[in-house]
Amino acid sequence: MTQASNIFIKDTIIKLLTAIGSEKEIKKYINKFSSTEQQFAVIKVGGAVVEEDLDNLISSVVFLNQVGLRPIIIHGGGPGLSKELDAKKIDFSFIDGQRVTSEAVRDVAINVFGDINSLLVRRLNEQGALAMGFKEEIFKSEKKSEELGYVGEIKKVNIKPINEAIKDGFIPVISPLGITETNEVVNINADVATINLVEEIKPYKVVFLSQVGGIYDNNESLIQSINLDLEYEEMMNADWLHSGMQLKLKQIKELLDLLPRSSSVSITKPIDLPKELFTDSGSGTLIKRGHGIDIFESKDQDIQKKFFSIIESSFNGILNKSFFNDGDYKIFLTTCERAAIAVSMEYKVPYMDKFGVIAEAKGEGIGSAIFHEMKKEFPEIFWRSKSNNPINKFYLSMADGYQKTGEWDIFWMGINDYSKLNECINFAVSKQQTISY
Ligand code: ARG
Repeated sequence: MTQASNIFIKDTIIKLLTAIGSEKEIKKYINKFSSTEQQFAVIKVGGAVVEEDLDNLISSVVFLNQVGLRPIIIHGGGPGLSKELDAKKIDFSFIDGQRVTSEAVRDVAINVFGDINSLLVRRLNEQGALAMGFKEEIFKSEKKSEELGYVGEIKKVNIKPINEAIKDGFIPVISPLGITETNEVVNINADVATINLVEEIKPYKVVFLSQVGGIYDNNESLIQSINLDLEYEEMMNADWLHSGMQLKLKQIKELLDLLPRSSSVSITKPIDLPKELFTDSGSGTLIKRGHGIDIFESKDQDIQKKFFSIIESSFNGILNKSFFNDGDYKIFLTTCERAAIAVSMEYKVPYMDKFGVIAEAKGEGIGSAIFHEMKKEFPEIFWRSKSNNPINKFYLSMADGYQKTGEWDIFWMGINDYSKLNECINFAVSKQQTISY
């Protein structure tokens, strides 16, 4: 393809993408993901996705290719393998989640995984995305144990051919198979293979594509983001998170512990992948190791300075110089210094006076993390927001209630007494505006 038509396609795609997000945020992510510092993404595709949702998978990956991004794809195939073994009347069993692999099972696995690999490569190529299949040459392995048979334990990930493929403009497609020193092909659990691959590549994003498309809370609604530093313990102890998801979360934590803090995991559906990657709000569940959050008194000059800079950048306005003069505030600040909250203690109920996340950090779940921390500290709180502020959707999902009053929407949590609430609303409405544009 010529340089000019390439740019044309890229422009067209950005236009298409703006249907799901703003041009500014889309360009931000394209730049972030194209940076040479960190490899873009490893995408794990479950076997069920290949069977049930192949068209959406292919179009989403072709789409990435067209904006110049080359993810590394690793696929599973467990369900297909079980089906094929049943059809061939070959018995199989599992020990600790690992399929016991006799020679016969292994031979079927080679065929089933090989077919999935070839199918993905062929479909991508047909759609103009160059793809290169790797069947067993990536994972140098040893047989794990006598009783598991042809199950590989990975000793070394051969990343050279992967890097070369990417450099030459190909999308690598990898099967969960390995090879021993004596050239025997072995079966590898696809999640284990993914972890080993990710540890070697250290990508910016690890994406799990599944038909479920995320982690759900006790009301069956999708959890948009999880900050492991703050929420992991709580979620692992929660009785509503079912055991399959707990195991998944545990694996994801182990995975993220191997990666730089800038890396994150996303779980989403194939069709929603562009939205997850190129917008702040995403489409599935985003999981990050997260940032620490500290609480300070507002007297500290250094903290005041940091607070001003976050709020002014987030609102794109000027915060009144005397903001801290007339009152007592608690300041929440993330250790990365990219999100902050000020809670005013001047009224009988704590009032959230400012909440800001700098533009570059939007979409990382850091706003929701700091908000949760504030909520823990102040279960009774109220705040206001301009009625046209896009953040109100988030506020609405957090608040117990809200009231529209002309220019301002007033939100609250944990305030149950009606007359007290009324006083709070009046207080919020009558407050002077402290940001100017
Ligand atoms: N586009 C960003 C990313 O992929 C943010 C995604 C946010 N997703 C979410 N489910 N909250 O890193």
